[in-house]
Order: sequence, then C-alpha cells, then structure tokens
Amino acid sequence: MEAAPAPSRPVQVTDLSRWKSEGRRFAMLTAYDYTSAVWLDRAGIPILLVGDSLGGTMLGHRLRDGGPNTLPVTLEEVIHHARAVSRGVSHALVVGDMPFLSYHLGLDDATRSAGRLIKEAGVQAVKLEGAGPAIEVVSHLTERGIAVMGHLGLTPQWVNVLGGFRVQGRTEQAAQRLRSGLAELEQAGAFAVVLEGVPSRLAAELTAATGLPTIGIGAGPGCDGQVLVLHDLLGLTVGTVPKFAKPFASLGEEMLGAARRFQSEVEQGSYPDAEHSYG
Ligand code: KIV
Repeated sequence: MEAAPAPSRPVQVTDLSRWKSEGRRFAMLTAYDYTSAVWLDRAGIPILLVGDSLGGTMLGHRLRDGGPNTLPVTLEEVIHHARAVSRGVSHALVVGDMPFLSYHLGLDDATRSAGRLIKEAGVQAVKLEGAGPAIEVVSHLTERGIAVMGHLGLTPQWVNVLGGFRVQGRTEQAAQRLRSGLAELEQAGAFAVVLEGVPSRLAAELTAATGLPTIGIGAGPGCDGQVLVLHDLLGLTVGTVPKFAKPFASLGEEMLGAARRFQSEVEQGSYPDAEHSYG
C-alpha cells in the first residue's frame, strides 16, 4: 500500500490531534543531519525528531552493557544536529529533544533550553521525558508558547533508575503510574506523547483513554502514530537491534558493499576510468 501523499503545507502541532480524531495513523522518524532530513521530508514523513538517541547513533556513546547511551548528550549537540535537520525540511514538523540535565535544574533553566532549541535550531516543538516533576516543566513551557511532546514508559534518560532498558507498565501499579502520568501530561498542555516500551494492550488502552495523540515505539499497533530511530529503519544500527525495530532497508550491508567495491577498483586501477575523469 502506498504511503499518504507528502503534506501540501508545513505540518503544525495541531494537525496531530486532528489526525487522531480522524483515526489517521501517522509516522515519525528521527533525523540528525541535513541530507537525511531532505530525503525524509521528500518521502512525506510528517514529523522528524532530532532525538537524543543521537548519542548512540551519531556519537557512539555506549552504556556499560553496550547499549546506546543518551545521557552524555548536550544541549549544544542537539542544537547542532537540529539546525542541520531544520535546513533540510520544507514540510515536516521538527521536534527537538531536550537532553538529560537541560530541564532538571529549574523552570527558568528549562525555558532557556527549550527556547534555544526554538530560536537557534528552528524546531517547532520540544520533547522531554517523564511525568512527576517534569509535568511542572511541561505546564511552564506550554504557558510560554512552547509546544511540548511528552515521553512516557521506557524513558532512556532514566536508564540507571529503571535498571536497564526494560518494558514498563507490566504490573498493575506501574500501569497505573502510566495512566496518571498521561492524564497529567494532557492536563499540562502537551500536544502529543511518545509511548516507549509498553505492552501493546496497555498502550492501546492508554491511546483510547486520552485525547493526546500517542506515538508508539515498542508499544504495539494500538497507538495513533509510530516512531522509529532512523538507523533501525535503514538497517544501519551497530550492535543489538531491539525486538520492535523492523529494518525496512539494509543500508549497512549496502555501505559495506559499496566501500569494498570502491576499494577493490582503486586497488585494481579500474577506478577512475575515462567516464569518471576529465579529458
Ligand atoms: O531520542 C529519541 O530518538 C527518542 C525516540 C526513540 C522516541 O526519544
């Protein structure tokens, strides 16, 4: 089946709740650079997230167990990558992730961080993880005209508290925490929420119970939208690929083949040939 046609005008945060009410599912992908942003925008992907997953995909930060690590990512790094993505986009909504410690030190500090993503990187919205104390931050930002996407469930910035990347909401108590976190986020004015690493049945229940558009990753088919890390989508991931991450291409293998063919032609002297040389 063909994907929906590319949006005819720039996507707005308000489109997501309309899509939810129309029952229209939507896709979000991470992007970290200009070239990928151009191609993903051309493909009609309506939302690009400059995620702090760039710590693993772009910068090679690893946890002690070898998994990707978002904790060292700085606001400067997200701004750097988000600027490049914004330059490549004509229609997609660009969301900038607020990295660890960029919204933990007080409301003014959080506003400054989010404001820098908007002013310096040109994003239209920010994303931050968790409920509890983060709810006050969400209210504070939305009251100041900053659109906020929430992120609940397996929140990677909480990896040390969660004891690793584990599916969340498996016990009734944990499921209840997710239900109340989601209600608080909606009340605080978030425009959407990522549900990560949540059992499918619970994610579907949460999606049905909230007015917030939910965007699942490892949360089954019952969410309003789905997000993947670009490297998982393209088959570029180094190391373990999570169970939910379906590779839709094998670009890692393609890259390997292209590099080896280039190397071999250089070594044999068949590249560059006349066609690829100036007369
Ligand atoms: O940082 C990120 O890329 C994310 C997505 C996985 C949702 O938060």
